[in-house]
Amino acid sequence: MKAKHRPKDGLSRFENLNTQPHHKQKIFNNHEILTKGWYPVCASSELKTNSVSSFKIFRQRIVVYRGESGEVYALDAFCPHLGADLGNGRVKGENVQCYFHQWEFNGSGQLEKIPCLEKLDPSLSKLKTHHYPVQEKYGHIWVFAGESATHDVINPPALLNEKVSAWYLKEITLFAHHHVMMANGVDLQHFATVHALDIKFDYNVSENDDDTFVWNLKGKIPDTNLKGKLARFFLGDTFEYEVKFAGASLIAISYGKNAKFLGKPFPALNVLWGCLPQESGVSKVRIFFVTKKRKGLTGNVKNFFLYGFTMLLLMMLRDEDIEAFPNMRFNTNRLIEADKSLARFIQLINKSQISSWGRRDDS
Ligand code: FES
Ligand SMILES: [Fe+2]
Repeated sequence: MKAKHRPKDGLSRFENLNTQPHHKQKIFNNHEILTKGWYPVCASSELKTNSVSSFKIFRQRIVVYRGESGEVYALDAFCPHLGADLGNGRVKGENVQCYFHQWEFNGSGQLEKIPCLEKLDPSLSKLKTHHYPVQEKYGHIWVFAGESATHDVINPPALLNEKVSAWYLKEITLFAHHHVMMANGVDLQHFATVHALDIKFDYNVSENDDDTFVWNLKGKIPDTNLKGKLARFFLGDTFEYEVKFAGASLIAISYGKNAKFLGKPFPALNVLWGCLPQESGVSKVRIFFVTKKRKGLTGNVKNFFLYGFTMLLLMMLRDEDIEAFPNMRFNTNRLIEADKSLARFIQLINKSQISSWGRRDDS
């Protein structure tokens, strides 16, 4: 199927409903739900000091502004006075001021000033709008879809306690919900069927209490075809990779943990995907190459080579994986024994916390 003929609407979930009922999961691949997790809103460079903008995350409009100290704040976007979008306002110090009648709110959402009143009466002085956690990482601004964050924007599993730097690669629109793309990372059968690499992976899952979980997968590379033989020649006879999931919105993979290249230790290649579901059921995904922060010319050259290897790997994997998704309507009702890694993944995603931003409430 040529790329231009691929569907862009994610509507297959509404097709064949009478003859092939869709089994909706509590959270996994559920396009009516937003989970409590981190969502990318824009590049840090797009939000200059003293500037403000509003963004839509699923069904929630959020105003994000950078105060004169450089700190970034996120509040519900509609002004608690008459509902103007605070994104049309201006920044005053560490506060945001509504364009319409110039009510002024601080970074915690607390009303601080009304220009036409000398003093706020007690009912107004308590007025507060919701504020949300913000982090700047990987050159982007991330907002958490909940009052307080259970985890930080994650590092890839091979770089857990490292200082990292990242290159933003691009934003893609998936033809499906991002949970389907995430599931692909632990779909053990597809290595043989899609990538022609029949690696029998053993895996181990660690569930953390901060709404993150990690899959460690390790297997013998087969020498039954040319691809396998080449992989064994360069990488040795085993391949290990690790996948970290956070808040059902972030996925980071370290490819080649404890890897060797021609017998010498070789750093893992790390990629992070920041997902942003749309109301239509498709997801936008921002992709980042992540690496250890390295100093000096040698460090930069090393990172540049790792970037090159990562691009090559992504190109190979993506070009093969992407053929599976157009028109797919993920069916969770016929998982067989060989799919038990997927079943576990779905079960863990279904344990995620639901954000109030996804709720449709017209009252
Ligand atoms: S609508 Fe914001 S101050 Fe009136
Ligand atoms: Fe794949």
